[in-house]
Amino acid sequence: MLEPKINSTDKNEIYSLLFLQCKSLIQGENELISLLSNFIALLKQSFSTFSWVGFYLIKNGALILGPFQGKTACSRIELGKGVCGTSTKLKKTIIVKDVNKFKGHIVCDSNSKSEIVVPIMAGKNLFGVLDIDSYEYSNFDNIDKDNLEKLCYILSERLTQLNGQII
Ligand code: SME
Repeated sequence: MLEPKINSTDKNEIYSLLFLQCKSLIQGENELISLLSNFIALLKQSFSTFSWVGFYLIKNGALILGPFQGKTACSRIELGKGVCGTSTKLKKTIIVKDVNKFKGHIVCDSNSKSEIVVPIMAGKNLFGVLDIDSYEYSNFDNIDKDNLEKLCYILSERLTQLNGQII
C-alpha cells in the first residue's frame, strides 16, 4: 500500500530536523563508508515516500553503485546514460515527475514512478550523485531539490575535509 503524500509544511519540518541530524552524524565520523551509509539511512527513514535512496560514485569515468537502501539496483551506469548519468554530465539536479516520460530512464524497480538525482562535489571534482526514487508520481518538487542540494553541500564539505576517495 502506498503511503499518503507528505505536504509542504511537513516536508520543510522534516528537512529542518534532517539538517541537524545530518550535521552531527557526518561531523562525528571519519570513515567515509560509515558516513555515507548513515547519510542514506537518515534520508530513507525520514520520508515514507522514498522507495530507494542511494549513491552512485564516480570511478574511472563511470558511476558505480555506492551505499544505498532499497531493492537491489544496477551496479554500473555510464556517464550520460539514464537520469543519474545525465545529472552527472550536466552537473545539475534533475527532477523526474514520471519516469516513463524520461527518455533513457534506467529501470531498476518497475514500481518506481518518480525520481530525483543530485550531483555531489568533493572539492572541484564530481564525487557522484545522490539518487532517490519514489513509488508515487510527482513525489519530488523544488522543496526537495533545494533541501537535498543543501544536504549534499554539507556532505561535500565533509568529503573535502576528508579528502574523499573511497573507491
Ligand atoms: N533510474 C536510474 C537508475 C538507478 S535506479 O533508479 C536505483 C537512472 O535512470 O539513472
